[in-house]
Amino acid sequence: MLTLKRADQLSKKAAQIFVPVIDGKVAAPEIAKLFHLNLEDELAFFAPSDKPLKAGEIFEIPVSAAGYKCDRLAFISLGKASATELRQAGAAIGRKLRGKSDDVYLHLDLKKDETKSFLVSANLGNFTWNLKSGAKTFISIIEVRNGDLEVLKSAQLVSDAVNRARQLIHTPSNIKNPEWIARQAKKYANGAKVEIKSGAALKEFGGLRAVGGSSPKPGPRFIQMTYTPRKSGAKHIVLVGKGITYDTGGISLKRPYDIMIPMKSDMSGAAACLAVMSALKDMKANVKVTALLMCAENAISATAQRPGDVITHYGGKTVEVLNTDAEGRLVLADGLAYAVKNLKPDYLIDIATLTGSATLGLGKQYAALYSRNLKWIKELRTAGDISGDRVWHMPLIDDYESALESDIADINHTADKGDFNAGSVTAALFLEQFVDGVNWAHLDIAGVGRAEADSGENPKGGTGWGVRLLLEWIGTFK
Ligand code: BES
Ligand code: MN
Ligand code: ZN
Repeated sequence: MLTLKRADQLSKKAAQIFVPVIDGKVAAPEIAKLFHLNLEDELAFFAPSDKPLKAGEIFEIPVSAAGYKCDRLAFISLGKASATELRQAGAAIGRKLRGKSDDVYLHLDLKKDETKSFLVSANLGNFTWNLKSGAKTFISIIEVRNGDLEVLKSAQLVSDAVNRARQLIHTPSNIKNPEWIARQAKKYANGAKVEIKSGAALKEFGGLRAVGGSSPKPGPRFIQMTYTPRKSGAKHIVLVGKGITYDTGGISLKRPYDIMIPMKSDMSGAAACLAVMSALKDMKANVKVTALLMCAENAISATAQRPGDVITHYGGKTVEVLNTDAEGRLVLADGLAYAVKNLKPDYLIDIATLTGSATLGLGKQYAALYSRNLKWIKELRTAGDISGDRVWHMPLIDDYESALESDIADINHTADKGDFNAGSVTAALFLEQFVDGVNWAHLDIAGVGRAEADSGENPKGGTGWGVRLLLEWIGTFK
């Protein structure tokens, strides 16, 4: 964990200095003077001018000055300082400080938005999580030269929220059942109202009950969090998050079994929503936000739903269940229908680790974004590029809608009639059946929600994707 602080100059107690190098150039005159160094010469030793430095490369030299604790200076390359390179470099510093409780000084001289993304990435790169016995908590302090206080506060808020989502996602499923998520929602609500439905109160939520009934203790939870701004007449955003605390596939069991191992992260959408809610009060968001966390475990058991069942969703639509591993859309459908009927959203947006197909199309750097509102799509793309949680607009292809036909219910839920082979698209078309014309967007984060390797900003496992995007977009409401 990193704490970001502002500093006017190198403090006596900082243990290390980071000096950025942009496009091979280094400028930190007061540092050079204090330590009697020629920084250009020192850097040339590591970086011959014919070999450009990659963003995130770090070179250290020993330094000393009377009265200062600082004994190391680290050059940190920002490449040519593109948005991506700034994030890589920030993450590299965060990684360097993992497992340490050091006080360091960062000689930063960037624009406000650049400083923010650099520092957010530093705290993301610093994240580690484990349940090793005797594990300690490490908190390093970064003193940022001339850091703008608003920028530091905002970087801290956003990155802490992402790391909070990650903690929830990394927690194994024997600990995090739906009731546990409900407790976390209360713990991190930060003033937001939290209402929880379980048992008989879920009578109308046919999708949540069908999936969550597979794991009767403690059973599914519908968690509603509401943030109300001071401003009157504010717009209302409703977030719906997929909160499958473990996805075995149910009776349509996942095979081969090793693809099941990462499925504790199938609640990443709900985790992102929860983490966003936890930040709204401190960022003084000017918009009303309701989050609906659709939490259930998709287990294989005697009470699990069967392929061939027909269920009735919130609002009355009937659905023929064909593959119990397509459980995410079943819990989301109830959430979307509930929002439409009860919450009058101006913007309705769901976020879910929904389909493996999303990754086939886009890889693991961009989330699949579906919506019919082109203006809003543009806003989300911009927020994605600025924040680092990037989205790509995917089509809701009307011609594929026949994939949803069912002989015995209103629609079938795997949406695979007709072999369109576009699993992420047809899943989005399924969800659209429940939004009743409301202004809606769907984020399929199956690809971006999890990292396969511990690298850059991301730890291996849950990335906390979506928190930066949503907070950035919410921040545009004035
Ligand atoms: N949780 C999975 C999707 C997923 C796959 C997320 C890989 C992250 C990584 C989802 O519930 C699922 O199983 N989807 C199926 C749908 C299919 C049965 C129609 C899929 O994508 O294969
Ligand atoms: Mn599944
Ligand atoms: Zn799933």
